[in-house]
Order: sequence, then structure tokens, then C-alpha cells
Amino acid sequence: SLIRHYEFSVVYKDTTNLCSSKPIVTVNGKFPGPTLYAREDDTVIVKVTNHVKYNVTIHWHGVKQRGTGWSDGPAYITQCPIQPGRNYIYNFTLTGQRGTLLWHAHDSWLRATLHGAIVILPKRGTPYPFPTPDEEKIIIMAEWWKSDVEDVINQATQSGLPPNVSDAHTINGRVGPLPGCSSQGGYTLHVESDKTYMLRIVNAALNDELFFKVAGHSLTVVEVDASYTKPFQTDTIYTGPGQTTNAILTANQGIGKYFITASPFMDAPIGFDNATVIATLRYKGTPANPTAILTSIPPRNATPLTDAFVDSLRSLNSKQYPADVPLTIDHSLFFTISVGANPCATCVSGSKLVSAFNNVSFVMPSISLLQAYYYNVKGVYTLDFPANPPIPFNYTGTSPANLQTTNGTRLYRLEYNSTVQIVLQGTAIIAPESHPTHLHGFNFFVVGKGLGNFDPKKDPGKFNLVDPVERNTVSVPTAGWTAIRFRANNPGIWFLHCHLEVHTSWGLKMAFLVENGEGQNESLPPPPTDLPTC
Ligand code: C2O
Repeated sequence: SLIRHYEFSVVYKDTTNLCSSKPIVTVNGKFPGPTLYAREDDTVIVKVTNHVKYNVTIHWHGVKQRGTGWSDGPAYITQCPIQPGRNYIYNFTLTGQRGTLLWHAHDSWLRATLHGAIVILPKRGTPYPFPTPDEEKIIIMAEWWKSDVEDVINQATQSGLPPNVSDAHTINGRVGPLPGCSSQGGYTLHVESDKTYMLRIVNAALNDELFFKVAGHSLTVVEVDASYTKPFQTDTIYTGPGQTTNAILTANQGIGKYFITASPFMDAPIGFDNATVIATLRYKGTPANPTAILTSIPPRNATPLTDAFVDSLRSLNSKQYPADVPLTIDHSLFFTISVGANPCATCVSGSKLVSAFNNVSFVMPSISLLQAYYYNVKGVYTLDFPANPPIPFNYTGTSPANLQTTNGTRLYRLEYNSTVQIVLQGTAIIAPESHPTHLHGFNFFVVGKGLGNFDPKKDPGKFNLVDPVERNTVSVPTAGWTAIRFRANNPGIWFLHCHLEVHTSWGLKMAFLVENGEGQNESLPPPPTDLPTC
């Protein structure tokens, strides 16, 4: 294994989309940012230097960070932010991980433009568990606002109202032709007849789950969130923010030009976002000015498509890549996910939108939790995050209890190597909606999902404990639930949050404290000497 060195310089860059330019925050002047390439078991060292006016951190989304909790990156959770003019060196090893992941900023809404792909190839000499594709292409989907993205969230926080939805989506940084601004071309995926392509598809959007389609071509999914899956064919990829999907495309449809679309999946009755991005797939040898083959764009609320996609996901569970599902559970947790409104004297409408697990809307501390834990600083957090909601109610009923949401920096404590099951229960408080939920520091197995209220008597009997998909981010279905399991074998403090950034901003986040173990290499090491202070 190798040590790979990267320099990430966070700088402004004037960028044009939707026929107008604005300075955006980038890494090395690129949007999307540079791809981080490595192989399984390599060590990656990234020096991040902050040249913009905002505080910055970078998170390596899906990297397990075994023993390197100080490099995880979420601001005020595992580190204080890198202040303007300062730098910090992230240092982690990709032990037993291969596939596609993403890196992104993890403070405020900076990840709108501060993100890029992580490509981890298998160890040298180890083939993929499927026929080696002729070529690989990175497809990064994101959102674009005409205004400054930090202004969007700051205005929303002050007013208590929802933030503006994005003006467009992008594929590899380009919007593609849209009404009112058709002069700019979108991204083009160049292919040659009869070759196979592995698309490494990254959803780096802030607030939208997305459908991805290529006209005329089906896709074979082989991996999600850097875990191999049993291959399956689909016309439509469904992916939440933070999720990654590797899919094989065979260029077998005859030369020509085919549309590629990324369109939002949004089934909440409020906050519509209909912007769609169009890119093109173009065969070598296609004559000039061809007629493009169209694709049907899935309806914004196409829940049957999302269900079918999620139900097809199984871990590969081969001899070489076994699914190591915890079969016994030390901590059985039940977390409701809700969006509600709390009184707010300074807000224009007299109330503000809040979001919570188990009715606790998480309050960010002013020094990092991991530093507070390591140095024993009192009064920063409490270890009393509730294992269950305060009162059981009809979570998905049409007139649910509108429970009072409390504020707190409350953590849940886990012993080293204990096994954990979390049933994430969506609720209908204000709006039933799908929530892509991300856990830092671990992959988890998605052992079950269902519509309506979780039934603790009947549903566990239907769990898949053989080949459930292994992920780092899972969408909790609208007015339904998802059950995940993981083993807490990584000491440190690990964030759990909705990866719709607007919900994170409203408090839909909490953290686990995983204690040190007894053995060698089972303890959180001391912080690096350049760790930023608050
Ligand atoms: Cu991809 Cu906590 O984030």
C-alpha cells in the first residue's frame, strides 16, 4: 500500500452557470473539486489550506476512519473548523475499503460547491467481482443557486422559513440547456460502440434526492456506498445526497446522441423542486447535429420507482466479500424523525422550522465534541440522548401528536464493540418526507424497511440478516421506517444526521460516543498537533 499526498487549497473561483457568473468556494479552483484516487489499504494525506472568508472543514464521506477520528471532518463534532488563513492535515487509511465515495465541506452549506469524488481501486492484482469495464467515468450531480449559497441559508435561519430551493441541478458542474438560458451546453459522456463503462455516480446535491437515467440504455448496479452489491439491471438510479452508485453501461444502442437526466425525487407536499438537468451521451462516429433520443423523466413523486430500486439492493455477500451482519443486539434504539415548528420571537413568522430525532433538536456546541471528550471539558454535552421517543404516538397518522421539540447537545454512549440496531421511523409531523440518513465512522446493514409504523412484534421477524445491503447513508421512506445494524468498533464521536442539508440545519442530527476498548489499537489516539482550536 502507498501513501498518497494531496493539497487542497480552498479558493474562490468565478464560475458561470445559468448564463451568469458568481464567485464560488472551490478546492483548487475546480467545480466539482478534484478526484481523490487511491487503492484499498492506502494511506491518504490531504493538506487543506483555507483561503476564503468562511470557516472550512472537509469530511471524507463513507471513509470508516478506523482509529483516525480526528480526520473525520464535521465541524464542531470531531474538530474545530479551519479558520481563514489556516491549514490542517487530514491523515487516514482506507483499510478494507474500495469503491466510490465523496468528500465534501462539513460546515454550514459550503458543500454546495465544495465536493468531489473519492475513487478507491481494489488492491493491485485484485479484480472487480464483475467483468472489468473498458472505461470508468465519474458523474457528480449537484445543485446550483443563482444567489450566494451562504446567503440562502443565513436568510432562512433568520426568518425561520424554508430556504429557497436551488435554481438548477448540475452534472459534472454543468447545468445543460434550460429555458431562458439555452446557450450553455451540458456535460457530454463520450462512448464507443460495444464498449462497457462503469459510471461512478455521486449525489453531491444539498437538498435533493435524485433520479438518474440514460435514454435507451439500462444500467447494471454493482456497488453502492463503496460496498459491492448483487448486480441488478435498472432503467433508473435512485440516489440520496451522500450516496454513491457504481453502474455498468454497455454502449450497444447504435451510434447517436442520447439524453442523460438527473431529476429530483421529492414526495413531500411542500417545497417542490422541479429543476432537471440534461446531459448527453454521444457515440463516437455520430454525425453532426443528430436528433437526440429522449428519455421519460420520472414524476417528482415516483415512490414506486424508489421502492423497486431499494428492494433490489442486496450486498454481494460472496466468500471474498462476506456480509458480516450483527446477529445479536446490545443497543436497540428507536429514533423518530420529524420536522416541526417551535416558537421564535425574533423570526418573521413568530415560529421557526425545527427538525429532530426523538424530539431532540441538536444544538451545535462551540468547541468540538471530540476535543471536549478527549480533554474532559465539562458542560459541552450530555450523555442522555433518549433511546426511544418521549411518548409513543401514531407516527404516520394524518393528525399526529405535535410534540414539543426540545433543544440539546445530547449524545448516546456505546461501549466499544457493542452491536447497535436503530429503527429510524419517519413521522407525519408537518410533512411526511424521505430522509437520507448518514452515519459517520461506520457502514451499517439495512436489515429492513416498511411503510407506516414499525411493529416491534411482527417486523423484526422479516429482517434480512443474510445479505442486506451495506451502506453509509440510507433513505428512510416517506411515512415509513428503516432498520439498520452496525458494530461500534471505532472509538470516537460519530455524527448521525439527515443528509438533506436543510434538515441538518434545523437540528436533525445527533452523535454517538463510542468508548475506548481494552486491547491494543482500540483507543482514540491523541489529537494531531495541528488540530485547529475554536
Ligand atoms: Cu456527507 Cu456528515 O456528511
